[in-house]
Amino acid sequence: MIFKGNFLAKETISRIAQLINYHTSKHSTLMRPGLAIIQVGNNPSSLTYVRKKIALCEENEVHHELYHFPETITQQEIIRQIRFLNKQESIDGILVQLPLPPHLSRLEISNEIKLSKDIDCLHMANFQNLLQNGENNDIIPCTPAAVLHILDTQGIDVRNQNVTVIGRSHLVGFPLSVLLLKRNAKVTICHSETAVQEHVEKADIVISCAGHKELVKGDWIKNGAKVIDVGITRIPGTNKIVGDIEFNNALPKVSFITPVPGGVGPLTVSMLFKNLYRVWCRTNG
Ligand code: GUN
Repeated sequence: MIFKGNFLAKETISRIAQLINYHTSKHSTLMRPGLAIIQVGNNPSSLTYVRKKIALCEENEVHHELYHFPETITQQEIIRQIRFLNKQESIDGILVQLPLPPHLSRLEISNEIKLSKDIDCLHMANFQNLLQNGENNDIIPCTPAAVLHILDTQGIDVRNQNVTVIGRSHLVGFPLSVLLLKRNAKVTICHSETAVQEHVEKADIVISCAGHKELVKGDWIKNGAKVIDVGITRIPGTNKIVGDIEFNNALPKVSFITPVPGGVGPLTVSMLFKNLYRVWCRTNG
């Protein structure tokens, strides 16, 4: 089965949009939600992600501000911008698009975001809460939330299954692995310093979030396995995006697969909207 994320994403987005419209129509002084995006440089995949996030805001009358800085920006300048946004009443959520260039500290920058505006759950204190509370946490970062939504809506039970997660980023692989562990999966995390093939070969479920074009070869995949492809790599100079999995070669082996584009991506954007709604509700009682 090839999963299509667009329908489910639209369903979530329209439900949240209705809730926002309901609250703002009842309270005339209520400001609509506001999202600030900080982007540094021109990472091709980030350009794709940010374009989708802005489109979401435009389509749903969400106030949005994009701060797109050149690669040469200093850490202090970004921190100054975050401190300014922390104080803005019109901004409910602040998102620092990752990855950042190597001269910037993701951790120090994330830790400047006001806890209540941290819609990616990247601040150390929020992240700690996520590790502790799992799915009961107030905010679940949007990509792990999108993967869990797929598992739930498609009836995929990870309990006692060999789940191989490829990638250990703070935003996706690491929190997702913890959330799967809390669902009693047998989780193996692969990353740049580990073998990948042998852990894919034994996996009942493969979730790849490495962002490396076609890293996972179709013939590594166990017959009947379920595959969720979170990776998005934009081919430079084109609008074409590809995933981490060799889709066509994997297809004959799998019982379930998410394509790129059109699989996890649309759901991730819908989960961002959900998180923005949550933080907006929190500040507006
Ligand atoms: N880079 C890729 N996906 C995301 C995301 O969901 N949030 C942020 N902040 N950076 C990303």
